[in-house]
Amino acid sequence: SASPRRTQDRSTERPHLPASDGPAPLSACSPDRSVSRRFRNEPDTDPSLPANRAWARRAITTPAPPAREPEITDPAAVDTVVERAAASSWGARPGPERAAVLRDAARALAAARGELLTVMVGEAGKTIAEADPEISEAIDFAAYYADRAEDLTGDAAQRSSTRRDGAPFTPDRVVVVTPPWNFPIAIPLGGCVAALAAGASVVIKPAPQVRACAEVGVAALHRGGIPADALQLVHTAEGSTDDTAGRRLVTHPAVDHVVLTGASETAALFRSWRPDLRLVAETSGKNALVITPSADPDLAVADLVRSAFGHAGQKCSAASLAILVGSMRSSRTAAGARFHRQLVDAVRTLRVGHGSDPSTTMGPLIGPPDAKLERALTRLDAGERWLVEPRQLGPTLWTPGVKEPVAPGSWFHLTECFGPVLGLLHAADLDEAIALQNATGYGLTGGLHALDPDEIEHWTERVEVGNAYVNRHITGAIVQRQSFGGWKGSVVGPGAKPGGPNYVAQFGTWHDGPLDA
Ligand code: ALA
Repeated sequence: SASPRRTQDRSTERPHLPASDGPAPLSACSPDRSVSRRFRNEPDTDPSLPANRAWARRAITTPAPPAREPEITDPAAVDTVVERAAASSWGARPGPERAAVLRDAARALAAARGELLTVMVGEAGKTIAEADPEISEAIDFAAYYADRAEDLTGDAAQRSSTRRDGAPFTPDRVVVVTPPWNFPIAIPLGGCVAALAAGASVVIKPAPQVRACAEVGVAALHRGGIPADALQLVHTAEGSTDDTAGRRLVTHPAVDHVVLTGASETAALFRSWRPDLRLVAETSGKNALVITPSADPDLAVADLVRSAFGHAGQKCSAASLAILVGSMRSSRTAAGARFHRQLVDAVRTLRVGHGSDPSTTMGPLIGPPDAKLERALTRLDAGERWLVEPRQLGPTLWTPGVKEPVAPGSWFHLTECFGPVLGLLHAADLDEAIALQNATGYGLTGGLHALDPDEIEHWTERVEVGNAYVNRHITGAIVQRQSFGGWKGSVVGPGAKPGGPNYVAQFGTWHDGPLDA
């Protein structure tokens, strides 16, 4: 589905909007039985309304609160947190009761939209255009997984101290959520509400760069009724070999599952700490958008720029490569010249700055570039030239870059760099483009811009990615419509996708028959 989210006038927003307001549920027009009758996506803020712009301006110019909770270094303190979580009565509540609390939690997040925007812009440097839909996504996760709590468990499957209830499903005791910094609200809170929907208790360890975001988000979930013992937040040092508290969190015997969104190296570190760890992990990506001569060039350029430079390219889903097919490769053909000219213009037009300036269209990096990103921003490999050369404006502020032609098998073709650099590869035909796209070893997102139905079918059947998008930007998966997750080197674990029908059911154990017959 390429349809955008609906938008909403925040100037008339009331907290705790009754569920009967708003547009018809998606199922009214969907043949997909997994589409919930109850769920509908939360609208983003409509920026065309002056009152909404004033609301957003207030939110982004309000100073973000600092993180308040101290960092834990003592493993004994981690034991206390995990044991309190394991003793919570949350998992003994019936599914429909958990669902009702999660729906209240979704409403509490909606009521906190301004507060969340303030902290995301202030702490993570996000622009309004990036932060506002992320808040909608977090609300969607809570409401969508509430429905799954009902489907999954009915009243039978709950954590039972006697284990005589014949339950087919026992929730995990404690799930640890270790999210990344690049989506500081949707990914952390999404992991929490998924595990809570299953009946597990949660300990979340936010990324150090975005601790205040996590604190504000978790506080909203608590206000919505998630019990304090069932959802606890701890700060430990960044996942590293000397993070003894973090290591204790991952290896504590009451922790049944860890949800990781982050680098493949972090997944490997967790496994080295605990070889039998049950890990649900979405890891790295090197994503490409293929553009053929049948594409609508205006759409292709707009979607490519959005996919490559949204949040300064700091998304696992971002387009780091565009693969130009046939006549699109060369500036000597009319179609290719038009595409290259438009792309350069669009990239040069991005306004680089901090998210607290409403005119910013590309925000800062989360910190100074690491070695890989520095190389991508400052070096060309054999044969490459800059179509748009990046410039450093400040320690974390870089203008976007575009390099061409990236050679098949070269460093930039195969390396995730996580920043505002786009490389253009050339392919003689669609099959060659697909081969280049599938050669990275990863398989998270991928896109095709083509209007020829045969090309669309050919590509869709062969591309090896979890999220394949046609004639759409390749970031910003929408809960329920585009559950999000990878293949190949982009995923660790069973792989049911966040925002999809089976994600919640991973956080527990399925039994063949009565547990204690
Ligand atoms: N879910 C995020 C996206 O789709 C990562 O861009």
